[in-house]
Amino acid sequence: MVGMKKRNLIVANWKMNPSSLLEAKGLFSTTKKVASTLKNTDVVICPPFVFLESLAKTTRPKNLTLGAQNISSERKGAFTGEISGEMVRKLEGRYVIIGHSERRSSVFGVGETDKIVNAKMLVALESGLIPILCVGEKERDGDASYLSFIKEQLRAGLLNLSKKDLVGIIVAYEPIWSIGKSYKETMSPTDIHEMSLFIKKSIGEIYGRDIGNSAKVLYGGSVEKENTENIMRYGDVYGLLVGHSSLIAEEFANILKLADIK
Ligand code: PGA
Repeated sequence: MVGMKKRNLIVANWKMNPSSLLEAKGLFSTTKKVASTLKNTDVVICPPFVFLESLAKTTRPKNLTLGAQNISSERKGAFTGEISGEMVRKLEGRYVIIGHSERRSSVFGVGETDKIVNAKMLVALESGLIPILCVGEKERDGDASYLSFIKEQLRAGLLNLSKKDLVGIIVAYEPIWSIGKSYKETMSPTDIHEMSLFIKKSIGEIYGRDIGNSAKVLYGGSVEKENTENIMRYGDVYGLLVGHSSLIAEEFANILKLADIK
């Protein structure tokens, strides 16, 4: 929008950590302190569901919000063990990560298909949550077929979203081969830049050029303090999705400060 300043978005995916509410509160409280010093950055913490309510009850700076790592593809009813989008929203969750590769995986996760991911996107929006759609290839092949794989994940994940919801959609590009490693083994800012352009172009080809250009691409996969600044500066990204480095208070504080560029 004209006159609107772009804000960076840094999302912390705590996954199944930490193991107690006490630790979760400690980590959250350090993050709050740092977040309150940032000028250009919004921070979203996605803790395990069980910590959401307690963390939401504490005071926090305006630029720090909470999110969930997943929601059910169903709205309500007899779905044992599931958590609905509405429940998350009522606990002051603002965002939700949808289709993370660990959930799409049938080895570690529940084997979420593109169809389920799409259903969750629709439920998230209906519940008033802001979805973060995760896409990413398992490996890179010589014939670049991973590009058509990503394009299909985007097409299927965003199916039946209204134009209003598609504008400014948040997509986290997380190549599976780069998750949970060290900054040394992950993607270069140049390659991230290329993928960010590819994602916007692909969304544009499927859903219209304006929508493609408005997409907010995050990068995730072994973001550490060492590669944060370069990815933010040269990766053409709107922000970052941070896993293991968001669990170490000091490391995450550094990441937030380094990412807080104009
Ligand atoms: P990582 O995880 O930062 O530990 O690589 C990122 C993610 O899986 O969201």
